[in-house]
Amino acid sequence: MKKTTVNDIVRMKQEARKIPVLTAYSFQVARILDSSGIPLILVGDSAGMVEAGYENTIPVTVDEMIYHTRSVVRGRRSALVVSDMPFASYQVSLVEARKNAARLVKEAGAEAVKLEGGRRISRAISSIVRMGIPVMGHIGLTPQSVHATGGYKVQGRTKADAMTILDDAKALEEAGVFSMVLECVPAALAKEITGSVSIPTIGIGAGPDCDGQVLVVNDMLGLSGPDGVARYVKKYAELESIISGAVREYAREVSEGAYPSKGHSY
Ligand code: KIV
Repeated sequence: MKKTTVNDIVRMKQEARKIPVLTAYSFQVARILDSSGIPLILVGDSAGMVEAGYENTIPVTVDEMIYHTRSVVRGRRSALVVSDMPFASYQVSLVEARKNAARLVKEAGAEAVKLEGGRRISRAISSIVRMGIPVMGHIGLTPQSVHATGGYKVQGRTKADAMTILDDAKALEEAGVFSMVLECVPAALAKEITGSVSIPTIGIGAGPDCDGQVLVVNDMLGLSGPDGVARYVKKYAELESIISGAVREYAREVSEGAYPSKGHSY
């Protein structure tokens, strides 16, 4: 099976082919996504919330991202693997940004990294791109800034905010990103950005006109707990009830002595 590269992802926009992206954090899930034809797997720092149970993505460390990225890289054969740079791994200095990006590529096997923010981090982005590491941008709602934004809210609703996000998109393209995530922005703004840049936009809560879509895999599989999911999430499966049904049946059979049977014994 042919390996997907960043050039293949850019070409998908040029050929008007939509780009389906999902997150993964583990070997087995990466294996399933890859063999199901997902061309780009994002090892998101959402791992901190959906896998580690943190309240937000801020505590996630580079070492944790390396652990998850290594697991995903071992599970995929063809998909491009993009790893998130966690909070404070690229904002403190350009040297830190380059070192941490290099760790994700060199120690974990990521083929690209993702950074949150627009114009204010464009120097960090171009510095990493100059090392030969492809970068994915991420604007609109940037969860690592949750304390500054005061919550997970749709961004770019006013004309001024929309202009800032459009300018950020252009700044990211100038800095050399090969694609960018647009998170929780009005569909009309996402459409305008998608038409204004030559690289693919990957939307999450950004309407149907982006070049691709991304979802957190736990959300779309119905594995993100009782708190409910954002309006943009479509649940393609309800794994929580399937797992819970299987676990209850197992517990009942063990209690009743029905498991293990002779066939499950040596
Ligand atoms: O961390 C993540 O999973 C992400 C996606 C939601 C885009 O950044």
